[in-house]
Amino acid sequence: MPPKIILITGANSGIGLAAAKALTSASTNYHVIISARSLSKAQIAKAEVEAENPSSASRLSIVQLDVTDGASIKYAQVFVEKEFGHLDALINNAAIASGDPDIYTRYKVCMDTNVVGPAVIADVFRPLLLKSSNPYSIFVSSGAGSFGRAVERFSGTRDKPPEPKNGGAYHVSKAALNMLALREHHMYVDKGLKVFAFSPGFVVSNLRGTSNELRTGWGKAGPASVAGETLLSILDGKRDLDVGKLVYKDGVYDW
Ligand SMILES: NC(=O)c1ccc[n+]([C@@H]2O[C@H](COP(=O)([O-])OP(=O)(O)OC[C@H]3O[C@@H](n4cnc5c(N)ncnc54)[C@H](OP(=O)(O)O)[C@@H]3O)[C@@H](O)[C@H]2O)c1
Repeated sequence: MPPKIILITGANSGIGLAAAKALTSASTNYHVIISARSLSKAQIAKAEVEAENPSSASRLSIVQLDVTDGASIKYAQVFVEKEFGHLDALINNAAIASGDPDIYTRYKVCMDTNVVGPAVIADVFRPLLLKSSNPYSIFVSSGAGSFGRAVERFSGTRDKPPEPKNGGAYHVSKAALNMLALREHHMYVDKGLKVFAFSPGFVVSNLRGTSNELRTGWGKAGPASVAGETLLSILDGKRDLDVGKLVYKDGVYDW
């Protein structure tokens, strides 16, 4: 059976890179297209995956894809269509948690990268996904974007975390991303598209910053590999009963 073709945005770091490693080391079922906002970052990521698992080399491709650049998105779509003719899974993973002191800038950056980009990418790649016999569209979201969890938090039934430094722009963007996932599910479930919003949990990555303290979430973040393994379990069909939901490793969150 030919391997399934998986495109991951922002796959040069953190959870995207962990997913590329999990998918290519679990079996020969997956061919991963590592996309990153520069080709050199994608090349470095590919080399890192290959170094851990030399047999993965033939099941890896790279493409430049800046999620805020329409021309780059179109270029990547043409690349995938020419090389593979279809796509089996799209993992809309790239995101940013801007801490810019200017509120306009941080909202604009978070919304452009975390909402507008994934919306355009989902739209541009959907025709290729619908050529697959079992297509998946996964939006890497966050429990921080869940209204249900926010209501609990704001009503004091859970510990109140400190107000994030970015003034909620990231949270708001993930709430919008959840709506994007829910809408795509309802519009395309009849065509066989399996849509998930996925909350990876608090894991080590560059999202909070690149210092050791920020990467590790002050020592409290778990390994990104756990999120990579959960993404693998979704693509392996183990979470198909949760299609159209905001899922995390151990269950489902309220929207
Ligand atoms: N880590 C956590 O605790 C956590 C918790 C909840 C949700 N998440 C979600 O998990 C996903 C992955 O984040 P992460 O934690 O792995 O953080 P990360 O290490 O910072 O990875 C984010 C990736 O997105 C890429 N990216 C940012 N802007 C981009 C753009 N314009 N075009 C293309 N790529 C772009 C980054 O590329 P560069 O390297 O070039 O910046 C990087 O590869 C995100 O959706 C995030 O919101 C993470």
